Amino acid sequence: MAEFRLPANSRIGIGKTHPIPATAKRPRRFRIYRWDPETGEGPRLDTYTIDLADCAPMVLDALIKIKNEIDTTLTFRRSCREGICGSCAMNIDGTNTLACLKPIEDVKGDVMIYPLPHMAVVKDLVPDLNHIYAQYRSIQPWLQSDSPPPPDRERPQSEAERAQLDGLWECILCFCCSTACPSYWWNGERYLGPAILLQAYRWIADSRDEKTGERLDALEDPFRLYRCHTIMNCTRTCPKNLNPGKAIAEIKKLMVLRR
Ligand code: SF4
Ligand code: SF4
Ligand code: FES
Repeated sequence: MAEFRLPANSRIGIGKTHPIPATAKRPRRFRIYRWDPETGEGPRLDTYTIDLADCAPMVLDALIKIKNEIDTTLTFRRSCREGICGSCAMNIDGTNTLACLKPIEDVKGDVMIYPLPHMAVVKDLVPDLNHIYAQYRSIQPWLQSDSPPPPDRERPQSEAERAQLDGLWECILCFCCSTACPSYWWNGERYLGPAILLQAYRWIADSRDEKTGERLDALEDPFRLYRCHTIMNCTRTCPKNLNPGKAIAEIKKLMVLRR
């Protein structure tokens, strides 16, 4: 990861301004963070103007149009285009969100686009997710049970038990929440952050999982869990309207109850 981390004092320079299309009926400016570690140059903000009269409505549509028609070097992640894969997470107009779910018309003035904050950058709008995925792996995000499943069907859950997972299973691991969390900014090497803790709670809350004690033991640590100070940036920014702050509070409650 360190090889492409920007120096802490990197300033964002003024980059290239691409010309306004001559026939544009509804021109709109997009100012986009660019950084390519292979050039040896610092980061910059490039300016692109596209015609909204000839563009689909979401910020991701504009990025795809810019890449296809103006500048093929612009680099960003995307896949599903419908808020399911989590790969187009970035900072748009000052908020972490999914580019495919963010209407251009919701932004007043220039559309400012940066990578998710406080992450190492691989290139342009692509953050390095290696560390946060290693944290995800550390919470063992799979069902663990010593009891064998019924021979002829899946493990049963009552409706009430299944309902315990609502608000958790929908997480798409976009990491908008973790990268909006001040505690994660400053302690991300050791604090797991809201996305990973919500995922941890997803397995703790699962009636079929038999490793609740071990999962709580693994979180009983001054950094991994307790760096959450209930600032709630995470919940405010989640583009799927989930509540990672509440999931963290539920884990803390279980910690108290078992003492
Ligand atoms: S509630 Fe906790 S996890 Fe969420 S932003 Fe605040 S400190 Fe971070
Ligand atoms: S809780 Fe929301 S913001 Fe956080 S990773 Fe999951 S979907 Fe993304
Ligand atoms: S492209 Fe999949 S969530 Fe945006």
